[in-house]
Amino acid sequence: MGTISSGPDGLEGVRRVTIRFCLPGSFATSDRMPITPFDALACPLDGNLLTCSGNSWRCPSGHTYDISAQGYTHLLPVQNKRSKDPGDSREMVAARRRYLEAGPYQVIADAVARAVLAELPIRGATCLDAGCGEGYYLRQLANAAGETHALAVLGLDISKWAVLAAAKADRRMGWVVGSNANLPVLPVSVDRLLCMFGFPVYGEFARVLRPGGRLIQVDPGPDHLRELREIIYPILKPARTLEPSVPAGFALLGAESLRYGIALEAPEQIADLLVMTPHLYKASPEGRARAAGLTRLALTVEVRLSVLERLPTAT
Ligand SMILES: C[S@@+](CC[C@H](N)C(=O)[O-])C[C@H]1O[C@@H](n2cnc3c(N)ncnc32)[C@H](O)[C@@H]1O
Ligand SMILES: [Zn+2]
Repeated sequence: MGTISSGPDGLEGVRRVTIRFCLPGSFATSDRMPITPFDALACPLDGNLLTCSGNSWRCPSGHTYDISAQGYTHLLPVQNKRSKDPGDSREMVAARRRYLEAGPYQVIADAVARAVLAELPIRGATCLDAGCGEGYYLRQLANAAGETHALAVLGLDISKWAVLAAAKADRRMGWVVGSNANLPVLPVSVDRLLCMFGFPVYGEFARVLRPGGRLIQVDPGPDHLRELREIIYPILKPARTLEPSVPAGFALLGAESLRYGIALEAPEQIADLLVMTPHLYKASPEGRARAAGLTRLALTVEVRLSVLERLPTAT
């Protein structure tokens, strides 16, 4: 794969070739700090260390997990699945990819990348996105981190469709199908853990984070997508006003609210937003019909970004 761009000395039209190796554990860009796959993986059946050998991961007890042709590994044992095809569907993943790539949540991605990189060692640090979806926030983080930080990265999601899409889009990082309820990750191995619009399991997050490591959590605020909800629901639920409590084993380092307006200018974009959120399934048939008639939609984006530090375990 090659790119034409201006070189570091400002010469226009310099051809810079970027070579990508597809094997786990490798990376390659000529002029940026490396993004590599996180490799402190644990067997989802017994918690033992997994080692990469050829095209599979193996644990000392003999459990083996193949790396797919697209570069991801399935680490969700069938007995831990609550349904045949858990998590977001193929359609939801495709809709989220189109919606996010158009840039409406770039402000959030930038804030998350800043929070991840703040006070992070420039070499040897690790980052896990637990419930990574199709990988948008990790791709944005890699773009920001690649200028300054060498980072080993893992995206995990319970949806195989999400992980497949994420792995196809970026082979530098590690990608696994797995559950936040039983992270296939070694204890005390993660410096930054993202939980974006997701399903936090704080006990597991506390187990895998190093003391001093940080959980960066993004949740919708009271006015998030309010205009859409006003169209599809007859009555809006009152917003919760209580501050969320700090989970055991963590201290709140800081929280910020991001609030801004966006305009969706095409019916397809509005349809994608509906498909990727739970609203489509919760709305009444009349609400859905009203949304289907929209050609333009001005929306409020409002999220809360919290940074929680893993406290040292008491001895
Ligand atoms: C609202 S989406 C957010 C995706 C991504 N973080 C983003 O913001 O673009 C929630 C994601 O959580 C995943 N998910 C649901 N239950 C999960 C679990 N127990 N463990 C890991 N991921 C889960 C879904 O498959 C889906 O991709
Ligand atoms: Zn095992």
